[in-house]
Amino acid sequence: MRNTITVMNAKGGVGKSTLVLGIAETLSTYHRKKVLVIDSDAQASISHMLTPSEQLDAIRAQGRTIVEYLIAAVLKEEPARWEDFVVTGTSDVDDARSIDLVPSDTHLTLFEREVSKRDYEVRLRKIVRTWVAEAKSTYDLVLIDSAPGLSVLTECWLREADFYLSPTKPDHISTRGLKFLRQFRQRDPDMGFAEPLGVIVNMKDLHSTDDEQYDRWLRKDAENRCFPISVVRASPLQAAGHFSPRPRSYWAKYPGNTGDQLRQLTADLLSRVAAAQKRA
Ligand SMILES: Nc1ncnc2c1ncn2[C@@H]1O[C@H](COP(=O)(O)OP(=O)(O)OP(=O)(O)O)[C@@H](O)[C@H]1O
Ligand SMILES: [Mg+2]
Repeated sequence: MRNTITVMNAKGGVGKSTLVLGIAETLSTYHRKKVLVIDSDAQASISHMLTPSEQLDAIRAQGRTIVEYLIAAVLKEEPARWEDFVVTGTSDVDDARSIDLVPSDTHLTLFEREVSKRDYEVRLRKIVRTWVAEAKSTYDLVLIDSAPGLSVLTECWLREADFYLSPTKPDHISTRGLKFLRQFRQRDPDMGFAEPLGVIVNMKDLHSTDDEQYDRWLRKDAENRCFPISVVRASPLQAAGHFSPRPRSYWAKYPGNTGDQLRQLTADLLSRVAAAQKRA
């Protein structure tokens, strides 16, 4: 089944982690999907968004993040299992009870540096390929939250996952990040690459004529496959990343139009995945 999605834009701060969070929580709450979120960013934003900080501190102290898994499997060539690094039942949304997470940590960048220094790229790619293949049979959807820029690990996810999804802000710099990704995809076509699921316009300011123009311009290019919804800049989404110590309802976290937009976006995402699965 084709169900693994790398969320990527070479430009930072476009809302990748926030949308991974909102989509995962919507998939769990409204579609009862079993979701695995893989945090592939040393900033660990999605890890912080899905787990309380004390729990994350404990996980890090015990060495149970993606970094220790990759060090063991790739650099030490040990028979490590990614399943042993999964945190189950994350999220502060009371009805979102089926989101698992492989959290990240800051020394992911050191690991990546070591991979390049020691020429372990091929082994990293093989480990990522096996991980993707195994995770897709355990979960309904796998979402990989990537770091900004194009790291050696992000390249593996882009080449091994079934799909990639690109959030962007409707502005010049963020759309350049999309262009860079497209050019990268077209290079070395025999090396394999995820299929583009589409572009999500995020943080659109409804009062900005510039945002409106960039939004239209992005939609004019059919290759972008823009999702029908442009997610507006809204305070609930800005606040969504702060893990609430007390469980909250989906409605409290994503009230009104924000929840409507996330549900529409998630339904469209599921339709695109289903259509691609049928084609395959
Ligand atoms: N639709 C939105 N409305 C308001 N704020 C948003 C929205 N989407 C994201 N944000 C805010 O924008 C900031 C950047 O979002 P986020 O961290 O999700 O981006 P990112 O692409 O994952 O960044 P990075 O490249 O650093 O990983 C955060 O403060 C987040 O709360
Ligand atoms: Mg992020």
